[in-house]
Amino acid sequence: MSDESLTPRTAAVIPAAGRGVRLGPGAPKALRALNGTPMLVHAVRAMAASRAVRLVVVVAPPEDATGVKSLLADLTLPERTDVVVVPGGATRQESVRLGLDALPDDISVVLVHDAARPLVPVDTVDSVIEAVRDGAPAVVPALPLADTVKEVAPNPPGDAGAPEPVVATPERSRLRAVQTPQGFDRATLVTAHRAVEADGEGATDCAGLVERLGRPVVVVPGHEEAFKVTRPLDLVLAEAVLARRRANDGF
Ligand code: C5P
Repeated sequence: MSDESLTPRTAAVIPAAGRGVRLGPGAPKALRALNGTPMLVHAVRAMAASRAVRLVVVVAPPEDATGVKSLLADLTLPERTDVVVVPGGATRQESVRLGLDALPDDISVVLVHDAARPLVPVDTVDSVIEAVRDGAPAVVPALPLADTVKEVAPNPPGDAGAPEPVVATPERSRLRAVQTPQGFDRATLVTAHRAVEADGEGATDCAGLVERLGRPVVVVPGHEEAFKVTRPLDLVLAEAVLARRRANDGF
């Protein structure tokens, strides 16, 4: 048996079916351009940059799945990497599940990466994969927080502008802001998704589903360039990062 056949095969699932309403009106968020290239294309390239990633499953907005397929068909990627496009669902969780359903049997490590984090560096992707290969069932890249965080008692909808009472101030040094790609042992992630389907309760990230199973989740260092493009100012920042990369290394 060659070393290659012993290496766990890795796929990346990119949920990209969100509307991105916080960015303002327009195309689905993943299809918004950064320096003329759709965010999703940057995200696919970021996953394919890792030598370990053999397959990228893009979960597209259902109404745009055909367009996304032709967009990605034109893309030049390393020969080792295949791309598959599947239509997404109503929530991020459902979109990820649809992506997992599309994985071939020989994949044993799965990354889940937000299309909205187009600029994650390859070193971050590789360190997540390595931690899963070293035996962690779930791995999340994360950074310490710059801001102190308050827990509040949120106002009822309709009363959004009123002051909110503070309930607690968690100790900042124990908090981490979580990014993607999150990496998983495939069987663990599939079990976590099945459990939550039965239970009906969602989580804002896949690692949260694994935590509910009582399985260990570990954090590895994230990267400031793996930030999520959520608001209009994030687009400005993302274009500045791309301009800096181009100036530094002709990216
Ligand atoms: O809305 P949010 O920024 O948390 O979305 C995170 C990621 O999940 C985005 O890449 C978005 O496209 C994806 N998503 C999805 N299907 C949905 C909602 C969000 O694939 N129904």
